[in-house]
Amino acid sequence: MAIAPLRTTLDRLWPTYKRFSAYIAGDWLLMATACAVIFAIALTNSAMIWLIGKPVDLLYKGQYDSVRDVLLMFAAIVLLNQALHFGAMTLNGWLTLRFIGRVREAMLASCLAASSPVMDQYPKGDVLTRLSGDLDKLSHLAVDTPLTLVSHLFIFVFYAAMLLWIDVRLALAALAISPVFLLHQRSFGQRNRRVSQQFMDAFGRLLAFESETLNNLRGISSFNAEKQVSGMHRTTFNSAADWSFKSRRLSALFHVTFSVLIYLSGLTIVLIAISAIDRGEFTVGHLVSFLLYLGYISAPVRGVAHLGLQWQEDMAAAGRVAGVLDVQPAVSEQADATEFKVTAGRIEFDHVTFSYPSGDAILKDVNLTLKPGQTIALVGPSGSGKSTFIKLLMRFYDPQAGAVRIDGTDIREVTLMSLRKQLAVVWQEPFLVSDTIRANLLLARPEATENDMIEACKAGYAWEFVSELEHGLDTRIGANGVELSAGQRQRLSLAQAFLRDAPFLLLDEASSALDSHAEQMVVQAIDRLRRGRTTIIVAHRYSSIRSADQVVYFNGDGTITTGTHEELLASHPGHRAAAQWQMAIHEQDTNIQAR
Ligand SMILES: Nc1ncnc2c1ncn2[C@@H]1O[C@H](COP(=O)(O)OP(=O)(O)OP(=O)(O)O)[C@@H](O)[C@H]1O
Ligand SMILES: [Mg+2]
Repeated sequence: MAIAPLRTTLDRLWPTYKRFSAYIAGDWLLMATACAVIFAIALTNSAMIWLIGKPVDLLYKGQYDSVRDVLLMFAAIVLLNQALHFGAMTLNGWLTLRFIGRVREAMLASCLAASSPVMDQYPKGDVLTRLSGDLDKLSHLAVDTPLTLVSHLFIFVFYAAMLLWIDVRLALAALAISPVFLLHQRSFGQRNRRVSQQFMDAFGRLLAFESETLNNLRGISSFNAEKQVSGMHRTTFNSAADWSFKSRRLSALFHVTFSVLIYLSGLTIVLIAISAIDRGEFTVGHLVSFLLYLGYISAPVRGVAHLGLQWQEDMAAAGRVAGVLDVQPAVSEQADATEFKVTAGRIEFDHVTFSYPSGDAILKDVNLTLKPGQTIALVGPSGSGKSTFIKLLMRFYDPQAGAVRIDGTDIREVTLMSLRKQLAVVWQEPFLVSDTIRANLLLARPEATENDMIEACKAGYAWEFVSELEHGLDTRIGANGVELSAGQRQRLSLAQAFLRDAPFLLLDEASSALDSHAEQMVVQAIDRLRRGRTTIIVAHRYSSIRSADQVVYFNGDGTITTGTHEELLASHPGHRAAAQWQMAIHEQDTNIQAR
């Protein structure tokens, strides 16, 4: 009866241990030391309990001197036992932190490798729960559980041996009661697994909701949606709280019923022992030690039962951690990928067809060749695939058909690192981290000197505001630092692109308009940046379209139309309409500036 559930448990646990063994294997010596310490703890525990029963019989016999000796020995063992406990706790903490550190690093590396196209699909709150709470639970499974099991095992074996040694009949009577405990644990274990799985799902949804709310405060205020969001939050929280309450109630019920069973079985044993003492077969000191061993042997039994409850939860968390570790990047490097070298800088889209996994084709059989040193403007309606075109060039995704080539080399044949090193990108939403301006610039080129950074800021027209800041390059931006305006963020990301100094420049222009002074500086910075580089601009500014050597119009149905601005103006109604609109805005701005 006990074997079948044990086997099922082991069958379920084994793959998880195998999956994460690599993260703990390096610490086997520390693990073995911890086991040895635990062995010594169990041994000293047994001795302490034995020594507690001893004085009762000695006092009974009037041997007071011996009582003193026994108490002294007891004190010495207590000190040793506590020193061992200290060692065990320290080792456990050390092992846990090392394990968490390794897995956490691997999880982040996995997110980074999967990169934005894949990770954007996961709510941030959910990923953060997996990185913190779930990983804590996994560390419990990987470090605490085996060490606790070893401790329970030693204690159980030592105490059981002592019980048998004191009185075999009484010990067997106690053993006869144990199946009740196994049944008890089994019935609670199954229910607990269901409830904790539901709780964790609900809790993940709550965190995801909160994180999305915090990321969208501006949007929520602008819709006056605070009340609705609070209402949605209440519903999400209540669902999580409901499951949490069920889980806590189950746990309380488990502990209470377990204690009742323990007291009842203890009482049965005392009744049997009293009649043995009455017959003179047993001493009171023996009964004291026996009851203490019996009381304490319930600790490992209770502990294993509790682990049984806990590891269902831990296993669910382990699955969620593994989910992050196993996330598949949208693209992978070929085993024989080579280092990419740009010779001329010619980009070719050869019969490229691409669709996101979830939707229709964004590009259909697109052919396009960009000559080295040219500036190409990508234009077209929103959602027509301009940013996608840039993502394909950066190899965030691979096309389903056709190939993207640079200087004749299919970009799938080179390493991702060497490919992206050749591309300086300025995204629609500038990518800046909450750190100093210096740290953000160093992201673009880690080896940049102070002078390089200042020059890049000047070239990107960012120095004008950076030099005004009290701490200059060391000013913190974003959370807890200076908030930059949209134009300042753009100029800083242009400075990053200058530092990158790559042969290709990819620019996804922000569609939000800047004031004319800021706009002018951004435009001048871009002009300077694209000199001598093959440049692709997702163009929202009339000036960018007009100055491009070639315009690619995304028709919105997966096809493109190419030509010079003038050619498209004459032949393409969509481009003509868009250009006239932008021209009107441009003139309006120029007039305002002139006044
Ligand atoms: N990660 C994604 N998964 C699924 N569909 C996506 C994803 N990213 C973009 N799309 C869809 O692909 C289409 C093209 O998107 P893309 O971002 O390339 O448009 P765009 O031309 O850059 O638009 P805009 O001018 O508004 O920036 C859109 O319909 C968009 O909804
Ligand atoms: Mg876009």
